[in-house]
Amino acid sequence: MTRLSVNINKIATLRNARGGNVPDVQKTAVDCEQFGAQGITVHPRPDERHIRYRDVELLKPLVTTEFNIEGYPSKAFLELVTRVKPHQVTLVPDPPGALTSSEGWNTIEHRAFLEEVIGELKRHGIRTSIFIGTEAALIEGAAGVGTDRVELYTEPYATQYPEDPAAAVKPFVDAARVAREAGLELNAGHDLNLDNLRFFKQQIPWLMEVSIGHALIADALYFGLQNTIQMYLRQLRD
Ligand code: PXP
Repeated sequence: MTRLSVNINKIATLRNARGGNVPDVQKTAVDCEQFGAQGITVHPRPDERHIRYRDVELLKPLVTTEFNIEGYPSKAFLELVTRVKPHQVTLVPDPPGALTSSEGWNTIEHRAFLEEVIGELKRHGIRTSIFIGTEAALIEGAAGVGTDRVELYTEPYATQYPEDPAAAVKPFVDAARVAREAGLELNAGHDLNLDNLRFFKQQIPWLMEVSIGHALIADALYFGLQNTIQMYLRQLRD
């Protein structure tokens, strides 16, 4: 089974646009779970322009499925996640002002840093995942730094999918095999949507989890959150 983890950052962006607490980020997380989501993902950034550190603390006792916190492992981020202890931390190499994640880790260049961070997260009993591209050497490097999982950065797949699905997915299937042979479990995320998700899952059936935010929340404007989550679950199931 591939779990659907809903990234609720966009809900926080909407709330922050007005001040106040509408929409209620914590309530949305609980509702997503009731509507069938098998996980909740948040990505607190240093400027707290969407999910705030306080949101993360408030969400922890409310999330009853899988809680996944993504982010760059700064000192502040590590303090937060080792205190909150989510099920999974996904390490992302974003510079502080990045609009969104736009590349995976270079696990060779940053080997020592990643080893140290992953060691600390493991000591706190937190499963780790590393956001990564499709290059085989970097995936093998991820296994070398001791992570449990990798999350494939699927933006290049999503971009090429409309013109050539088979060519778009090929590097990802190859990368997924490298990960499997290296003993790594597999997640995926970024720009997955109702058009491209099913094909991706069909080609890589051993995928453990997808985290989806932008497209899912945009679809919810038309279909409603409950219907939308069910539609995404169907892509993963059928
Ligand atoms: N995975 C990571 C590491 C991300 O940074 C993001 C975006 O915050 C996602 C997945 C979800 O991407 P999208 O919002 O395009 O679904």
